[in-house]
Amino acid sequence: MAATLEPVTPVKDTYPINGTDYNEFYVGNAKQAAQYYMSAFGFQLLGYRGPETGTRDRASYLLQQQKIRIVLTTAITPKASPLAAEIADHVFRHGDGVKDLALWVDDARYAYEEAVKRGAKAIRAPEVLKDDDGEVVVAAIGTYGETVHSLIERRKYKGMFLPGFRAMTPHYAPPEAGLLYVDHCVGNVELGKMDVWVDYYASVMGFRNLLTFDDEDINTEYSSLMSKVMANGNDRIKFPINEPSVGKKRSQIDEYLDFYGGPGVQHMALATNDIVKTVTELRSRGVEFLSTPTSYYDQLQARVGTIDEPLDVLQDLGILVDRDPDGYLLQIFTKTVQDRPTVFFEIIQRKGAKSFGKGNFRALFEAIEREQEKRGNL
Ligand code: FE2
Repeated sequence: MAATLEPVTPVKDTYPINGTDYNEFYVGNAKQAAQYYMSAFGFQLLGYRGPETGTRDRASYLLQQQKIRIVLTTAITPKASPLAAEIADHVFRHGDGVKDLALWVDDARYAYEEAVKRGAKAIRAPEVLKDDDGEVVVAAIGTYGETVHSLIERRKYKGMFLPGFRAMTPHYAPPEAGLLYVDHCVGNVELGKMDVWVDYYASVMGFRNLLTFDDEDINTEYSSLMSKVMANGNDRIKFPINEPSVGKKRSQIDEYLDFYGGPGVQHMALATNDIVKTVTELRSRGVEFLSTPTSYYDQLQARVGTIDEPLDVLQDLGILVDRDPDGYLLQIFTKTVQDRPTVFFEIIQRKGAKSFGKGNFRALFEAIEREQEKRGNL
C-alpha cells in the first residue's frame, strides 16, 4: 500500500491547541550548546534563567528565530535538587536530547485534566508561575519514552517568555538563517509501538492520522521503517511516529533507540521560504548535512517535473525534492547534532506540498546508512 492522504473532514476539535510553544532540550553544557545554535543556526539569545536570576539548580537559555523557540537546559549539579538530579540523569542516559515538546493552550488546567481523564500519563499537575509581568499556568503530560508535553497557558502573561527568565541582549547576535517555524517533530518508538502512540495522540489529544508509510514505501536493502503522521485539530502540530521494521541489518531507528536508550525525538523539521539561501548560510556556518548520491539527481527531473530551483544548485547543496498532488517540497537533513547518533534537524521548504517527502525516504536512508556504516553500527 502506498502513502494515503486521509480526506480532511471538518470535525470538532476535541483538544484545542494553539500551536507549539517551545521545544526544550536537556543538554550537558547549555552555555556551549546555546553558542552552537546561535552561531551555526542563527538563533537569537532572548532569555536566561539560572543561578544569577535566582534559579540555583539549573541553567536555561531561551533561543528564538522567528516562530521557533528552543530552550536549552542543564543541571548545575545533580545534588542541587531532585529536578537537577533528573536533568543530569536524563543527559547521562540519553545524551543531549529533546525533553519537552511544549504546547500552547488557552486553558492549561482543562487541557491537563481532560488529557489525564482520556488516559494521558500525568507528569506535572497544573501550577501557576508568577512574576511582575503576570502569571503563566504550566502542566505536563507524558508521551513516548521520557519525552513530555508541557501545556502552557499564557493568557495572563505579558512577559517575554516564562516567569524566572531574564531578558538578554547579548553583544553577540549572529544574523538569522531564514528559519521560520517548526514544521513537524518526529518521534522514534520501539518495534510494535507505533500504533500504541498513534492511538494515544488520537484518543488523548484528538489528533488524526494524516499519512501512513509502510515498509514497502520506506526501505533499503538494510533499513526499513514504518511511520504514521499525526496532526492536531488545527493542523499546526504534526508529529510523525516511526517504528523500525525488520531488515537485513540494524535500521537507523534501532541505532537511535540503542544510543538514546529508548524512544525519543528523532528530528525537528524547521521551515524556510528559501532553502537554497538557508542551506548555503547554514553550511557556511558549520552545519553538517547528509550527502546525497549524485545518481539521485539523474532521476529527479523525471520524478518531480519542472521546479523553480536550478538542479545544479540543488545537487551542489544536496537538497532533496519530492512532489505530491498539492505541489512540491524541498528538504535536507543535517547529520546528528551531538556525538551520539540520535537527534538531527531537517530543513524544509514547502511549495504547495503537504506531505513529508516519501519519494526521498530511500535516498535519505541510503545516505543515513553510509554514516551508520562509518560508525560501525550497520
Ligand atoms: Fe521530517
